[in-house]
Amino acid sequence: MPKPATSPFSEILKGNVKNELQELDAPVHRWWRFVLAYPPHLVSQYLEEFGCEGPKCVVFDPFSGTGTTLVEAKRRGCHAVGMEALDFCHLASTVKTTWDTPIATLETAAEELLEKIASDFARYGFFSAGGSLFETHRNAARPVACALALPAAQEKLLGKGYISPRPLQKLLVIQQHVLALPPGPVADFFRFALGSAAIPSSNVGFGPEIYRKKAKADEDVWACFTDQVEMMLTDLRDVQTRPYGPSRVHHCDSRDLTSLGKLKIDAVITSPPYPNEKNYGRITRIENLITNCIQDGADLKRLKKRLLRSNSQNMYQGDEDDLFVTKFASVQKVADEIEQRRLDLGKTSGWERMYAKVTRHYFGGMYRHLLTLKPLLNRGARCAYVVGDQMSFLMVHIRTGELLAELADEIGFKVEKIDLWRERWATASKVTIREEVVVLQNR
Ligand SMILES: C[S@@+](CC[C@H](N)C(=O)[O-])C[C@H]1O[C@@H](n2cnc3c(N)ncnc32)[C@H](O)[C@@H]1O
Repeated sequence: MPKPATSPFSEILKGNVKNELQELDAPVHRWWRFVLAYPPHLVSQYLEEFGCEGPKCVVFDPFSGTGTTLVEAKRRGCHAVGMEALDFCHLASTVKTTWDTPIATLETAAEELLEKIASDFARYGFFSAGGSLFETHRNAARPVACALALPAAQEKLLGKGYISPRPLQKLLVIQQHVLALPPGPVADFFRFALGSAAIPSSNVGFGPEIYRKKAKADEDVWACFTDQVEMMLTDLRDVQTRPYGPSRVHHCDSRDLTSLGKLKIDAVITSPPYPNEKNYGRITRIENLITNCIQDGADLKRLKKRLLRSNSQNMYQGDEDDLFVTKFASVQKVADEIEQRRLDLGKTSGWERMYAKVTRHYFGGMYRHLLTLKPLLNRGARCAYVVGDQMSFLMVHIRTGELLAELADEIGFKVEKIDLWRERWATASKVTIREEVVVLQNR
């Protein structure tokens, strides 16, 4: 396969760092982000390049995460269709693209909900003194002890120290009232707000892996939740003043797109997981637990099994994605190199033994995804896959973009180009790690 030229467009993308920072505060996007989300401007530049405009243009993001592509596509009036396997990410993508709930309905529901929560907060003496917009609420003169606790199975999954006991109880009070709402978009709105508010209420930091910061004894959880709700209402009031496109987010595994039925897609803009040790189940653990998306270990396993095999903690007996890439010498070569490096270094842990397998399963999973996508694409449809080179597996360089382009080419896509999005110098290994956008066209 001829190596596609890197387009000059990449320079624009690369130089946009300032813009990227400002965009984290952009309406709707700011409702919830995670470290592995890409910036909205990256999406909007490809929507522009692909000529996506209006409701007849179907834009699909098969790995929708925090919903960046969907929000941008919807803002341009396109028909935004997403797919996401992780429960809280699916909830986030859905709520961030549900713009047609009447504001008055949400305001009334918010008033009723906050009144109930406030009454419990007062009873338990949970209000912090000062600083809150809701100064009208005061703790009871003789607060009673709160007996709410995370069920044992969830506590085990949460791990020690990620949320201090008092903020956790406050979150559980909110949870009780939110989960009592009748199912539907209004309940989803507040459940998502609760999941988002759990992060500032907790002791977690991201760097980019999730870690425990110094535990804080208490936190103004009331303010975290009400600020979140207020911000969401403010942004909704704003987006509702302009036209926007329809949207739908499927809660499925993108290695099998049968749930899309006969949908015809004009553009794909997406960022799948990369073959590295990033663990999406772990990164979003608090949100998934506090919103009851995960209730026990079995739930977590069910959820993780739907994910692309991209890290060594997410491999299962019976996995067969590797069979799809036995014919690709380049994939086999890099996986063999990883295994050989492991043997040379005498690494014997269970995780390290998985690295070569993960690599095969990862590319096999992406192959399956592209295979099931192709028939759903309109002729000439264009796809942008944002992927990064990786060296997480014993420093062996995995050129993700190049390998993905090779799989796509074999399936029958035209590989238009591979844009360089950004790059960093890896000092230890003395190589440049590229994050690229593989641009494909359906022939
Ligand atoms: C790199 S993130 C996407 C980030 C997204 N572009 C954004 O801006 O938020 C990859 C997402 O793919 C999801 N995912 C992983 N495997 C999946 C699968 N087989 N099907 C659907 N979603 C999957 C992960 O849960 C994660 O949210």
